[in-house]
Amino acid sequence: MERLTSIAGVRAHVAAARSAGRRVALVPTMGALHAGHLALVRLAADHADTVVVSVFVNPTQFDRPDDLAAYPRDLEGDEAALVALGGAAPAAVFAPAAEELYPHAPLTTVHVAGLTERLCGAGRPGHFEGVATIVTKLFNVVAPDVAVFGRKDAQQLRVIRRMVADLNLPVEVVDGPTVREPDGLALSSRNRRLSAADRATALALPAALRAAVLTAVEHREAGHPLDPAAVRAAAADRLAREPGVTVEYLEVVDPETLGAPGDAARRVLVALAAHVGPVRLIDNVEVGDLDDERRLVHATGPTATGPTATGPTATGPTATAPAED
Ligand code: PAJ
Repeated sequence: MERLTSIAGVRAHVAAARSAGRRVALVPTMGALHAGHLALVRLAADHADTVVVSVFVNPTQFDRPDDLAAYPRDLEGDEAALVALGGAAPAAVFAPAAEELYPHAPLTTVHVAGLTERLCGAGRPGHFEGVATIVTKLFNVVAPDVAVFGRKDAQQLRVIRRMVADLNLPVEVVDGPTVREPDGLALSSRNRRLSAADRATALALPAALRAAVLTAVEHREAGHPLDPAAVRAAAADRLAREPGVTVEYLEVVDPETLGAPGDAARRVLVALAAHVGPVRLIDNVEVGDLDDERRLVHATGPTATGPTATGPTATGPTATAPAED
């Protein structure tokens, strides 16, 4: 696995792969890699012959300097984790210094209207412009055939898909499911900054999503239409029982537009952001997507999330969704 730090270096690497007839995938990351990132790298290896992982803590997507400064950085650890993937290890890590990608403050940025103004965009002005701009730059620098993103960042994924469509970017976007700890907490580089007590408190996030899914399943199995308000209330009740969680937003939205769900919605995205101690966490589940429901319910099983996690597991999504994982 090569470490590339210059734009010219990564371009030459990819050009060589392409002239050998290889399909190239990019997995953009900000490093501090965990099993969620590594699952995306494996997924990339399923879709391409040559995988490049970028590790770049992109300053333009941080709305607070303290958050940028506190963001974990561990390139050597990241490289070791990637090499340990063996056959699925990427061909190269692209880890440029900030000056390589931003020799001067850009006057040109990419703004995806509408989708970026709500959810995380409401509380983090400029964040998605920073994301869309760096992802466009990475696409232009690496020129991948495929790029892989996680559903953990559901809004980011929608923004990138829309940007790719609107600008006719020649990249196929592939997404992977959220990888969780055995107790249900979604993996995040920021989890490293949670104290043991905060880590326990943070379980209220997946527990709230579980409550939302179980409510939707109950309604569905009783023959009722999806009730976004009831789904939201179930999650809100669970969060309200955890005083250590400060909710930034909890919303039930249309999975494509991220706006209010239609009257006969069959799928809704339940998305939330909350602060636990010094850390801002996000999580989501797509209700009505049986795979997503099933993964969430399995990951937050009764033993994982305590007494609040009881529910109609026998009749839950496990009963109706495909058995494979
Ligand atoms: P980062 O937070 O490092 O995430 C890199 C990729 O990993 C994103 O596509 C994200 O959705 C995915 N990911 C994070 N946690 C995950 C989990 N628990 N399960 C599955 N996938 C997970 O997202 C960014 O970096 C940046 O915004 C970036 C796109 C690199 C632009 O700077």
